[in-house]
Amino acid sequence: MSLSFEGRVVLVTGAGGGIGREYALAFAERGASVVVNDLGGDIKGGGKSSAAADKVVEEIRAKGGKAVANYDSVEDGEKLIQTALDAFGRIVTELCNNNSFPCGNVYSLIFISDIVHRVHLRGSFLVTRAAWNHMKNQNFGRIIMTASAAGIYGNFGQANYSAAKLGMLGLANTLAIEGRKYNIHCNTIAPVAGSRLTETVMPADLLASLKPEYVAPLVLWLCHDQCQENGGLFEVGAGWIGKLRWERSQGDIVRQKNQPMTPEAVRDKWDKICDFTEATKPVSIQESLQSVVNVLSQVELAGEVGANPTAASASASGINPAVGKKLPPTTFSFDHTQCILYALGVGMSTKDPDHLRFLYEGHADFSCLPTFGVIPSQAAMMGGGLSTVPGLNIDFTQVLHGEQYLELYKPLPTSGKLTSEATVADVLDKGSGAIILLDVNTYNGNELVCYNQFSVFVVGAGGFGGRRTSEKAKTSLPPPRRTPDAVVIDSTTRDQAALYRLSGDWNPLHIDPSFAALGGFKAPILHGLCSFGFAARHVLKQYADNDPSRFKAIKVRFVKPVMPGQSLQTEMWKEGNRIHIHKNFQTTILDLCTDLMTGGLMSVSVQGGGLQSELVFAEIGRRIKDLGSEMVKKVNAVFGWEITKDGRPAQDLMHLLSLPFVFFSPRCLPIAIDLKNGSGSLHKGSYSGKVDVTFTVSDEDFMEVVQGKLNPQKAFFSGKLKVRGNIMLSQKLEVILKDYAKL
Ligand code: NAI
Repeated sequence: MSLSFEGRVVLVTGAGGGIGREYALAFAERGASVVVNDLGGDIKGGGKSSAAADKVVEEIRAKGGKAVANYDSVEDGEKLIQTALDAFGRIVTELCNNNSFPCGNVYSLIFISDIVHRVHLRGSFLVTRAAWNHMKNQNFGRIIMTASAAGIYGNFGQANYSAAKLGMLGLANTLAIEGRKYNIHCNTIAPVAGSRLTETVMPADLLASLKPEYVAPLVLWLCHDQCQENGGLFEVGAGWIGKLRWERSQGDIVRQKNQPMTPEAVRDKWDKICDFTEATKPVSIQESLQSVVNVLSQVELAGEVGANPTAASASASGINPAVGKKLPPTTFSFDHTQCILYALGVGMSTKDPDHLRFLYEGHADFSCLPTFGVIPSQAAMMGGGLSTVPGLNIDFTQVLHGEQYLELYKPLPTSGKLTSEATVADVLDKGSGAIILLDVNTYNGNELVCYNQFSVFVVGAGGFGGRRTSEKAKTSLPPPRRTPDAVVIDSTTRDQAALYRLSGDWNPLHIDPSFAALGGFKAPILHGLCSFGFAARHVLKQYADNDPSRFKAIKVRFVKPVMPGQSLQTEMWKEGNRIHIHKNFQTTILDLCTDLMTGGLMSVSVQGGGLQSELVFAEIGRRIKDLGSEMVKKVNAVFGWEITKDGRPAQDLMHLLSLPFVFFSPRCLPIAIDLKNGSGSLHKGSYSGKVDVTFTVSDEDFMEVVQGKLNPQKAFFSGKLKVRGNIMLSQKLEVILKDYAKL
């Protein structure tokens, strides 16, 4: 479907000519009301004329579009915004800061001219400031800053222009962060196009072929409400668009504990400081600062290790001497077989047609699931590498997998040889046990493809006087306090663990009943990373259209075991690019924290349970808490539910409700949904009031109904759903169940 700007008010500065004119025409053609700003200055930035803006407005109107002119300089930001209000009675929703005049070749730094800064940088700032609060109040805004390659890379003789243009990028970077929570996105472009700006520096034929039309579509996309990009920097021209980001070398520490730092040490480490082979790509100031702060503990540690290289306990600073130690590198060779086996292991099935891209190597978009990224790196753990680290005395029978963080830098290949390098990031003292944070970087050749942080809990190894927390630990954000935006219920099979282990986690705990019994489990348990795979693919499908390139990172905490065959429920909340996923019930097994596309975090939780309908009722109960009064008004009835399993009242459910089986009777219903009294309530077990209508249905059929797969009328006529009492009230069931259609 084509992108529409109907109902939007777009302000384009400097729209009387060049690239800005093209934006104005393109936005108007797609339904936007456009404020065409241009002060109509001369080539040196002086003078003033209304002709430039008027001409573009006429062009737009001649084609049936909506536009008004504004002739103020961008230095009068408020006036531009007022024009939008006066003409369209609405505030600006999209703002393209594009104003410019050719700054000429200045040839010396001393000529940094005030007018260039006033128009490019201060002008963009003033117009943006004038629009900012309006955008905030309407909880929507899209801002484009027009920078330049001259600013990004520098250009001989353009000191003033470069400084102003990169100043705009700095402005945009912070606006992107400050605007995020108001749905205001700010992106920067560095265009190349033939215009009066470039006519003195480009040959005529090149000037003619680099059309402004090849820039405008990027700007339109970035301004559209569907586009979630924020804080991006793009180069665009000739029909090509590329994204830029910062890269930082691993660098090196040039200082030793209690020693002065010298320029000679800097010189001697210069090659390493400038070596980009294992470069990282920090995306936030926190990430940038964190590595600098980490250096402090590394310098401390280097001193401690020399003093006591094999100490198993923490040093006086609370830092274990194992911190910073590298494990022997591991390699992982694979082809499509492992990718497919993994996808099956985390519950993908050909029943779902859009799973085929992960299950069939001949599929046009055959891909590897993003969470497969844990598989190559787990070899570092499985290989017993931790036992080679001096300073770590681990009893491997006491090791539990506590948390997992995975970040992908690019979609995983579907075959090849990957190398993983693991480092002990930190060792923490949690009292009852120790936590080892293991950072694993996985490379395809020289290219870093993914990063994992394993958090390993060693029972009984705590109490050594070490630190309790670490700034290196990847954390998750709490989910928002509202009902989830989406819920997915999925079932694992009896053989889920037997299948998942073929991807490389051979721990007998997941297959051998006697081994599981030794660990105190009734039966073999599912791999934590298997449920993690389920949750991540639920998010990928719900919010990223199963596109692995949109997956960025995920964080999970393993809380409680899941048995193969149990159902898993993933609840999701979308907050910008973050998806929070969270637990409900006491049977939570995961807290996940993932991030799609651009940064930020999602928290996720998934749960296990006996009857699938339990999960739905728990959810209904929560919704009643939120929306009960509203539902009571609409429904005004009490519904009773009898859920059967294998033709009998469900034993599991009885157990859940702590009710003896014999008490199961229509008068003593397992579940009653009261949407008649007060602000509504859900009752498990006995309900003393009058039930208006009672439904008896099997757990499986109930799930079919709530998922919209089985029509309730059909279920009734085929005998799958039995109704007693006021049958007409079943029409109101929709109020309770309708939002589950997306389950
Ligand atoms: P242009 O010179 O054709 O158009 C700029 C428009 O801004 C002119 O119509 C001018 O009257 C207007 N303007 C100047 N001062 C103003 C003020 N104080 N208030 C309101 N309007 C004012 O330039 P072009 O090529 O279309 O450039 C658009 C933007 O793209 C500029 O920010 C420029 O620096 C940037 N850019 C362009 C490149 C190119 O290859 N054309 C390369 C890199 C950046």
